[in-house]
Amino acid sequence: MTAVCIDGKAFAAKVRAQVAQHVAKLQEEQGIKPGLAVVLVGEDPASAVYVASKGKMTVEVGMTSIEHKLSADTSEETLLSLIDQLNKDPEIHGILVQLPLPSHLNSELVINSIDPAKDVDGFHISNVGLLGTGQKSMVPCTPLGCLMMLRDHLGSLSGLHAVVVGRSNIVGKPMAQLLLGDSCTVTIVHSRTKDLPAMCRSADILVAAVGRPEMITGDYVKPGATVIDVGINRIERDGKKKLVGDVEFASAAAVAGAITPVPGGVGPMTIACLLANTLTACCRANGLPEPEGLTA
Ligand code: GUN
Repeated sequence: MTAVCIDGKAFAAKVRAQVAQHVAKLQEEQGIKPGLAVVLVGEDPASAVYVASKGKMTVEVGMTSIEHKLSADTSEETLLSLIDQLNKDPEIHGILVQLPLPSHLNSELVINSIDPAKDVDGFHISNVGLLGTGQKSMVPCTPLGCLMMLRDHLGSLSGLHAVVVGRSNIVGKPMAQLLLGDSCTVTIVHSRTKDLPAMCRSADILVAAVGRPEMITGDYVKPGATVIDVGINRIERDGKKKLVGDVEFASAAAVAGAITPVPGGVGPMTIACLLANTLTACCRANGLPEPEGLTA
């Protein structure tokens, strides 16, 4: 391996420590404590693990964590009424509705009922539009985490060619917008793209967000490129359960200049950025300056 391994776990801990410092200052100087409400509908075990982890880290940085656990058969009316109540609650600065929702609930309607100023996921259509037009918004946590790691590793991204593999609303599209905002030349590629390996090999920055285990191998990577692996795929190999990314780590690391591992790369940054977004939302709600280095 020749690539530098970008340690997302350590970087996320640093971001959380910065958030905690700002939270302590807010409390001391303004008597304000940021609050994050997480809503979980149903009993999906993976979602329950994420929500518990979010709650623990929210408390660790000194914020208030509120969890609303609703049964899988909760009606849309009940969920919308809870969101309305959280929208009006001055102690709550961030609202996150854990996805996926049970199929009888309209996810778009639910997400768009969150006050955009409290939409710490950055999924509300207003925030999508603000980001797309380069205006101040709430930015989706995973792409924000990737951007922070890229800035930390490369400094200025200006003029670099970034190729984003995947066109999801949660990662691919907002990632491309953020990279454009940092003056990259951006290409989005996907499963229908012709000669995908050659397109990827033209990238100075390669962001893999396709959800296909180890699809991006070393021959997709330009020598010296920075590779960000957003994939979290649970697979079974040699009878053992394993977590792998969208990038085949060994072959890509032999060519890349720097690469994020899975686990321990992008994953830990998502929750760190959720906390950063909650802090940002709290500062904005109170007319206070936003924390530096924790927003796009
Ligand atoms: N489920 C998996 N990842 C996420 C996320 O980032 N936000 C929400 N709301 N749900 C998720």
